[in-house]
Amino acid sequence: MILSTHRDHLSRALDSARSRGFRVGLVPTMGFLHEGHLSLVDQARKESDFVAVSIFVNPLQFGPGEDLDRYPRDLQRDLSLLRSRGADLVFCPSDGEMYPDGEPQVTVDPGPLAERLCGAYRPGHFAGVLTVVARLFGLFRPDVAVFGQKDIQQAVLIRQMVEDLEMGVEIALGPIVREADGLAMSSRNVLLSEEERPEAAGLFEGLQSVLRAFLGGEREGAALRRILLDELGNHPLLNLQYAEVVSPETLEPVGAASSGSVVVLAAYCGPTRLIDNHILTR
Ligand code: PAF
Repeated sequence: MILSTHRDHLSRALDSARSRGFRVGLVPTMGFLHEGHLSLVDQARKESDFVAVSIFVNPLQFGPGEDLDRYPRDLQRDLSLLRSRGADLVFCPSDGEMYPDGEPQVTVDPGPLAERLCGAYRPGHFAGVLTVVARLFGLFRPDVAVFGQKDIQQAVLIRQMVEDLEMGVEIALGPIVREADGLAMSSRNVLLSEEERPEAAGLFEGLQSVLRAFLGGEREGAALRRILLDELGNHPLLNLQYAEVVSPETLEPVGAASSGSVVVLAAYCGPTRLIDNHILTR
């Protein structure tokens, strides 16, 4: 596995892979990897010949008072996980290497899709995400990039950016990987206290209650949302930000849910913010 911390070195390694005719797959991450990330590496392996992973905790996507300083990091552990999963290259730049001139003067405006859901609670977050992803795409020029469904609004915005700016990168979505009790895997889960951890699984119970109702024939978006809120109300440690049934394209609430509608939610569990979603299917 090639380890790269500098852009010049990265560029040479990628040129050499391309000169051998390899299709390059990229899995962008902020490190502290778990099985969810590793499943994206597996997916990139299926969709490309040369699997590159970036590890960079992007300061641009954290607002003031958010958890940039608390964000968990363990580079050595990440590298050994990626080595055993067969990644070909890992790029882990310093802040200075990623943004050599300091904060970029030109950033990506994510537009109206970023005004709802997480974007409404985290101003500037998606501009920071899209700016770093655009920069990573510039550095890697990947054929395909794989993102997790857990951050569904992020994935929708990245697809839109690639389309609107003709970036020529295929975007693949990897499914949510869950703990035994259903909690979606997240680097932030280690921040949960012993008391908070079981309560956090209430998010999955909420999603399951909506799925059951949908499978039972309920289609009204508002009724499904009410069922979700009722279930989440059973978990006093969850402090809900939003819970909605939305369209996968517009992220707007649906009047009538159908296969493909997405149940999305975000909640604080103690000081830790968690998000989750489920794509409804028959
Ligand atoms: O999903 C993440 O881990 C980050 O938002 C990403 C896409 C790596 C950009 O920093």
